[in-house]
Amino acid sequence: MRTSPSLILGIETSCDETAVALVDDQGQVLAHVLRTQIQEHALTGGVVPEVAARAHLQILPQLVRQALTEAQVSLDHVEAFAATAGPGLIGGVMVGTMMAKAMAAARRKPYYAINHLAAHALMPRMGADLPFPYLLLLTSGGHCMLVIVHGPEDFQVLGETMDDAAGECFDKCARMMGLPYPGGPALEALAREGDPTHFSLPRPLMHSKDPDHALKFSFSGLKTAFREQWQKHPDHQADLAAAFQQAVAAIFISRLKNACAVIPPQVRHLVVSGGVASNAFIRQNLEAFAQEKQLTFLAPAPWLCTDNGVMIAWAAHERARAGALGDSLAFAPRPRWPLQRRDHDNG
Ligand code: KG4
Ligand code: ZN
Repeated sequence: MRTSPSLILGIETSCDETAVALVDDQGQVLAHVLRTQIQEHALTGGVVPEVAARAHLQILPQLVRQALTEAQVSLDHVEAFAATAGPGLIGGVMVGTMMAKAMAAARRKPYYAINHLAAHALMPRMGADLPFPYLLLLTSGGHCMLVIVHGPEDFQVLGETMDDAAGECFDKCARMMGLPYPGGPALEALAREGDPTHFSLPRPLMHSKDPDHALKFSFSGLKTAFREQWQKHPDHQADLAAAFQQAVAAIFISRLKNACAVIPPQVRHLVVSGGVASNAFIRQNLEAFAQEKQLTFLAPAPWLCTDNGVMIAWAAHERARAGALGDSLAFAPRPRWPLQRRDHDNG
């Protein structure tokens, strides 16, 4: 009988973090190394794809060696290799997948091409008692969506953002204020000093009567209102940050309320993941909402909400446990790769 690999090396390079981790099949993290490119992108206030790809290429081999040293294992002990194969900035994704494929080919071990969104979606299950199906709010720099997670390769997307992702909105608003990139943590810190009631910011789609909008997100109106208020009241920076954060939390909760009206009764867990899920204020609000709805609330530790290698290795474990033997070395990186229902999955 075939057994699942017990030790998997995961590589994440889809945006501005180069990360490598070694994770066993029980969810023990044997090594976790991460190098952020914040400095490289600080001047431009955002990620420049070519700069990111070059930085991944320069640092990745060193990070793999570092992870092996940290875990006190050699490459021979690694039973499968996984990398983000999309969606993301294609240059970086190519760097990560080439590295994982090369090691898998050299060691004759399986290679897993991991969907970055699936990895965020499955992360909360590591070390937790979280059965499928569960309701997920996936909120990061590139995505904002509501998903019912039915299995490691079975995702029912209920609704997505019609414009910006929530993290992107945090980043853009922070940038208007001259705060450092990434804007999420900087705005959160500032918001702690502010009075959210000083400003009243819009919650787009919240009062829309269009049933098509019920499970969708929109942040562009919030961003515009933020800009107007910032131009008028630059002396109220912290209050505006607090009002913004409260508006984002309120938008999330209004969408989740609508989702609760349509999810099947066996969905008993509310889960949040992705970079924005590391925000303590947003976590508290979602937890209170879950309690009200008698749902169990779960969120990964903040360092596992933002991009990391652990989630890539863990997603490969999840797939392996469900019977996936690995992917072909010919699997091409995908700049776009939406989450799909298993029945409809032709990937
Ligand atoms: O998941 P992630 O690391 O990368 C993507 O897959 O996009 O998410 C990064 C995003 C950035 O937009 C960042 O500003 C946001 O997550 N973020 C936060 C916080 N920490 C990171 N947003 C709000 N509050 C935070 N504490
Ligand atoms: Zn991410």
